[in-house]
Amino acid sequence: MRSVLKAGMVGMGMIFDETYRPFFESVAGTGLYDRRFGDVDIALAGAATRTGRRAEAYQQVSQGIIPAFTSYSGLDAAQQLIASRPDFICVATPDNRHFEVARDALQAGIHVLIEKPSVLSLAELDQLNQLAESNGVLARVVYHKLLDPDHKKLRTLVVDDVLQHVNNGYCSLLEPKQISGEQFSEWITGRNPGTYVAVHYIKLIDFTFGGRLKTITCTGQRGIVGPADGPTWDSCQLRLIYEYKDGREAAFDLHTSWVTPDNFPGYVEQEVQFRFDNGIWNGHSRRRGVELTVEGKTPFSLKNTINNHYNASCIEPWGERSQRGYGVEVIERFAREVALVELSGPASERGDRLSEIRGLDYSDLSADRQVVAAVEAMELILAEQAAGRPDRVARFDGQSIHLV
Ligand SMILES: NC(=O)c1ccc[n+]([C@@H]2O[C@H](COP(=O)([O-])OP(=O)(O)OC[C@H]3O[C@@H](n4cnc5c(N)ncnc54)[C@H](O)[C@@H]3O)[C@@H](O)[C@H]2O)c1
Repeated sequence: MRSVLKAGMVGMGMIFDETYRPFFESVAGTGLYDRRFGDVDIALAGAATRTGRRAEAYQQVSQGIIPAFTSYSGLDAAQQLIASRPDFICVATPDNRHFEVARDALQAGIHVLIEKPSVLSLAELDQLNQLAESNGVLARVVYHKLLDPDHKKLRTLVVDDVLQHVNNGYCSLLEPKQISGEQFSEWITGRNPGTYVAVHYIKLIDFTFGGRLKTITCTGQRGIVGPADGPTWDSCQLRLIYEYKDGREAAFDLHTSWVTPDNFPGYVEQEVQFRFDNGIWNGHSRRRGVELTVEGKTPFSLKNTINNHYNASCIEPWGERSQRGYGVEVIERFAREVALVELSGPASERGDRLSEIRGLDYSDLSADRQVVAAVEAMELILAEQAAGRPDRVARFDGQSIHLV
């Protein structure tokens, strides 16, 4: 008989639809196979959302595509889902609602995958890591940009010492106004686009170049999403200073916005430049790929610059319809990691397998401290600015953040 791993989903919004849904639908047909764990079924067993509306709508449209699942709703939806004891839980609630669900699931001994940003403070992160450790389960976070083939190539050139010693760089990620104005209107108050998307690049820099994060500065603009003197931010500019083993430093500027006009052709415009002792890496989401125009459709129902590497619904050359890309691949990878821990050998060796997977630090929560430190510092500095004390500087000493 085939083994089954039961999954629980907390939050069924935009990211569920883009990455988790295609994963659960494709794995329902193909199963997951690896020589080490054999042929495994991954079943979405339950979903927890606030109102249940989206889960129930998906129950209807997914009939015949995935097996039936239970919808839990209300204030204790996540606790009901945890009580049903799935093998793993995916947390895709708004940025500031990851911690409690992840904590409760880890406490119950359930593997957890959290959408980026994992959590908003080091205290929360340390608590989750301690719970994962003491309960012998995985606590991991989704940073799908690390699986982007371009970023894998960048890291390969750095690891192989072809690109030598990063000196400085910039990243920019611009989201359209519809994200802040419509998509996230329910939870936008007090939030900023830096925490929401700069984390993609903080992780890329941290994971690719290593080093020790030491200084964080940040500023931002207000007045479009919320009042000009309020706590809700339109755009943010973050600067990180890293120090490397040889004592040399690098500075990175990360600019983010969620008020770019909706008809801007570069939907989710992404650009990076990293400068090295002996080279430059330039990446641009619009220049790497396709520009598409369809009368009456682009840039709204179809995008001008589609990132087919991240997520694309296609007809495969062999006739099958699929939705694939690194956004889906990263979810499948986590399911494989759970299967490796639980199903790929004798129970007596489970601890070794758990350590092996926890050592893969591209997504382990224990390797997310510098990213969370940058997020915590950014949130603190912006709160200071909103309170009339702009231009604060944060230092990270490896343990905690100090505003100076
Ligand atoms: N990896 C990426 O590139 C990427 C892209 C978009 C979003 N995200 C992240 O995914 C998370 C969700 O974003 P989204 O765009 O899907 O948001 P969304 O607003 O579209 O959906 C949020 C979902 O969470 C549910 N929810 C809210 N509070 C809840 C609670 N307390 N208990 C249970 N369910 C609750 C809502 O019912 C809804 O189904 C965010 O952290 C976001 O940063 C990641």
